[in-house]
Amino acid sequence: MTLYDLVAPGTAGCAEPRYRIADIRAADPLGADAVLAALPAMNRDADVPALTVALRALVPDLDRVAGWSVVEALAAMRDIGMLLGSLKRHGTEPVAAVPDVLPVLEALARRTDMVPRDTVHHYTTWNPLGRRQRMYTGEQIEAHLQEAVRMVFPCLVAALDTCGELARLEPYDPGFAVALDRTAQHVQTMVDSIDFTVAHVPPAFFARTLRPYFEEIDVDGRDYLGPAAAQVPLWLIDLTLWQSDRSTPEYDDFLTETARYSLPPWRAFHAAHRAGTSAVGKLSAALSWETVHRMPPRLTASAVSLARVLRVLKTFRARHMGIARKAYSDDLRLYDEGSGGAPLALLRAVLDLTRDNETLVRRATQRPRTGAA
Ligand code: HEM
Repeated sequence: MTLYDLVAPGTAGCAEPRYRIADIRAADPLGADAVLAALPAMNRDADVPALTVALRALVPDLDRVAGWSVVEALAAMRDIGMLLGSLKRHGTEPVAAVPDVLPVLEALARRTDMVPRDTVHHYTTWNPLGRRQRMYTGEQIEAHLQEAVRMVFPCLVAALDTCGELARLEPYDPGFAVALDRTAQHVQTMVDSIDFTVAHVPPAFFARTLRPYFEEIDVDGRDYLGPAAAQVPLWLIDLTLWQSDRSTPEYDDFLTETARYSLPPWRAFHAAHRAGTSAVGKLSAALSWETVHRMPPRLTASAVSLARVLRVLKTFRARHMGIARKAYSDDLRLYDEGSGGAPLALLRAVLDLTRDNETLVRRATQRPRTGAA
């Protein structure tokens, strides 16, 4: 049983192969363990010829790819991905250097229904732990960043359920506040994750050493981003809480782009809910009906729970902004944009949107109440 099974009811023995974390981590369909153990040394020496030979040696026949399960295909993409990011870090476009990898990336993308490149899932959740852990640098700080991201996935899987439930409810339903309270517990892990990152990942190490491995690569004329933490689908939660009807074109565009790097069931969630009415939207509509400016207790309970979860999101974003600002400061940064393809201005805008929604809902909790439920 994986951690996902523990936190996401119904995923135990689940047919969704992407949740079979232990199996994906254990899989080594390319026999890449030895070469990837040597990757940090090749990167330290900026040994592009050795990296090119290693990638070429890993590229499988298409017949083999066709015979793989989704679990094996995900593990193969994970391992090829480590070499793609490494070559790009040293200034070489990997697909141009090893053209035979292109049809393999395309076949793996079709087989797994994901982008033709490794993503944050490959680099963190699907990455084995311990001796077989895939890293660009082999440094403990890199392992800490991987851990910071890995720890949030089970909670986001669980939040998918609670947010799906929320989307079916109205603020007058008692279940509305319950779904929000559960969601708040899940989102708290994002705060824990960023606190862990602040404690263990110095901004200078991220900016100068790790960030270059997450650069985009060219796959058949189209750029694909590296395994960025921004691909962590916090937007799954935003979407049903406030984003679907209270966003900006910039954040919408970022989400549409980011969702491409996500898992198929999560992309389906995005498609199903992007045009829906958010929890804040529903609460605002309900409030406008309460013309006497007095709130029924059930509506107040919903508003209190909604304000609480938005506060947790705001706390994550404010602390995250702090470390991002340092890592992308004038003295440290090597790039103007984050590895997820957006500038700091986007983070600022999303923090402001989260804060505005929290303020709006918090004010509603301060209205006088009626006696009736
Ligand atoms: C040194 C550590 C980190 C830095 C410097 C950093 C920086 C950034 C930057 C610049 C962005 C803007 C979009 C882009 O990437 O292009 C971003 C977005 C994002 N990052 Fe990070 N990040 C760090 C760690 C993390 C961690 C550990 C998590 C969570 C597990 C995380 C989650 C996110 C999310 C969810 C977004 C999308 C915007 C949002 O929802 O507010 N980041 N990050």
